[in-house]
Amino acid sequence: MSANPSILLVEPDYFDVSYRINPWMQPELWARDPAAFRDAAKQAFDRLCAALHGVGCELIVAPDVPGLPDMVFPANAAVVLDGKALMARFRHVQRQGEEAPLRELFLGLQRSGHIDEIATLPAGCYQEGAGDCIWDATRQCFWAAYGPRSSRQAIGLIESHFGQEVIALELATERSYHLDVCFSPLSGGEVLYYPPALTPASLEHLRRRVPAESLIEATADDLAHFSVNAVNVGDALVLARSTAALRGQLSRRGYRLHELDLQPFMLSGGGAFCMTLRLDRTSTPRGP
Ligand code: ARG
Repeated sequence: MSANPSILLVEPDYFDVSYRINPWMQPELWARDPAAFRDAAKQAFDRLCAALHGVGCELIVAPDVPGLPDMVFPANAAVVLDGKALMARFRHVQRQGEEAPLRELFLGLQRSGHIDEIATLPAGCYQEGAGDCIWDATRQCFWAAYGPRSSRQAIGLIESHFGQEVIALELATERSYHLDVCFSPLSGGEVLYYPPALTPASLEHLRRRVPAESLIEATADDLAHFSVNAVNVGDALVLARSTAALRGQLSRRGYRLHELDLQPFMLSGGGAFCMTLRLDRTSTPRGP
């Protein structure tokens, strides 16, 4: 693993909440004072950058594009591992316009040496990047979700593209529209997750794979605080303001929490993890 995680972020200059494609989005609230919310979003973005920088990340901050308010969530841009980027295909027409500028952005990342290869999924196969496909460094596998946003068909394609094991999880509700809002593998081998987000079969799958002492259950309140949607670097967790109960549990396990006010982005259904994309993740080479 590289000493300094490289993290892609997208500036929130054109961020807004003008449509509703997940149940957390509040366009009516945003419409009451767009200028003030936009301003608050810029401040929240700066706080996130400072916190990530403070825990040792190298930040690559890309400009956003007018008319694509959700581009500020680059977790959805691609799945990235071992220098390979598999570009997202968005389910909703409101976000499909991001695909072309994201491709341009990744071609730039290839030129700057952050990415080696860029690939695309076949048309009609939806997959919303790391939002629905999260690398677990402890188990050396991807956890990949299908359901509200990503197609089940994407699972096998991710597996063959990266040559890594992919554990499929089915999301059960629209509130957990992306895996990263309800599921987070941590550096110590724990998995922080919200049980009602998964179908019974996927829950069983998870519990077979991860020992009970490593499973940390989040509550509905934690979900609403976007506490599961955390950026984990070593023992640091950068996340939106959490709940007392979860703060206690994570601190007892040795994690240092950096809590931030990310309210403007939560009005779009996003927290800290969604606003980032790790570019430097590598798998551990397997022995002969
Ligand atoms: N409004 C965005 C959407 O619904 C939020 C995306 C947040 N990203 C994430 N990885 N959960 O697509």
